[in-house]
Amino acid sequence: MSYNLLQGKKGIIFGALDEKSIAWKTAVKCHEEGAQLVLSNAPVALRMGEINKLAEVVKAPVIGADVTNMDDLQKLFEGSMEHFGGKIDFVLHSIGMSLNVRKGKSYTELDYGFNQKTLDISAMSLHRILRTAWDLDALNEWGSVVALTYIAAQRVFPHYSEMAEAKALLESVARSFGFHYGMKKKVRVNTVSQSPTRTTAGSGVKGFDGFFGYAEKMSPLGNATAEDCANYCVTLFSDLTRMVTMQNLYHDGGFSTMGVTEEVLSTIE
Ligand SMILES: NC(=O)c1ccc[n+]([C@@H]2O[C@H](COP(=O)([O-])OP(=O)(O)OC[C@H]3O[C@@H](n4cnc5c(N)ncnc54)[C@H](O)[C@@H]3O)[C@@H](O)[C@H]2O)c1
Repeated sequence: MSYNLLQGKKGIIFGALDEKSIAWKTAVKCHEEGAQLVLSNAPVALRMGEINKLAEVVKAPVIGADVTNMDDLQKLFEGSMEHFGGKIDFVLHSIGMSLNVRKGKSYTELDYGFNQKTLDISAMSLHRILRTAWDLDALNEWGSVVALTYIAAQRVFPHYSEMAEAKALLESVARSFGFHYGMKKKVRVNTVSQSPTRTTAGSGVKGFDGFFGYAEKMSPLGNATAEDCANYCVTLFSDLTRMVTMQNLYHDGGFSTMGVTEEVLSTIE
């Protein structure tokens, strides 16, 4: 069901790799709610070609950008404003990558070169995106920027490894830049802390099935799906949440507030 919550709004969606991606589902929901979109992903992801299927469904151009490259980001924002014939109302940052996890390096053996790249791709990229929009004055007043994060920023999930630091940094950038952008243009910046979700990035974490099942048993509502997350992002891009900024918003079926459930206890007793 559509509520026309984003009628007339224009947004950039980063990170739709395939139809499991949270960004993919969010693009579809934003389109259903009346938004016009530009899709972006890293050149290497575009070569997979999947994103073109989404582009057809949501009637959006695809503009590649490696989020660690400021020239790419400038071209993306300029190209998007040209396409829309004006400024942008919302941005979804749905980007994450751990080089150490990918190369099988454990947390106590981090390669610091890989680590810098991980932090740049997964966290400072939000600063780079906001900075590019700021320099080009590309966002409309009361615009909304959402980045996706995970509760490993606050609690220890051993196999999440260096991504815990990346998410903590990401959430901090959202608060700090959220202050400056709020003062300057009433632009809001928030992070959404999502349940474990079966996607390419999610399934790349060692032991994913274990903590997916654990979170499911620990959450009174169960795990939030990618579709649920997409719906939540739509509300954050809409005018109905215009006074929400600089927050880390848990979207996890209640997991973040739980101590233990009967279901988990019964597996131990
Ligand atoms: N899946 C989960 O369990 C889960 C839980 C909480 C938060 N998240 C977060 O949600 C976001 C989206 O992940 P997803 O689960 O949909 O997985 P996904 O693999 O579908 O998306 C990750 C995206 O990041 C993109 N990316 C990687 N390097 C890039 C670069 N240099 N430039 C531009 N894009 C780049 C990838 O191409 C991909 O599209 C991530 O921030 C992830 O950490 C995921």
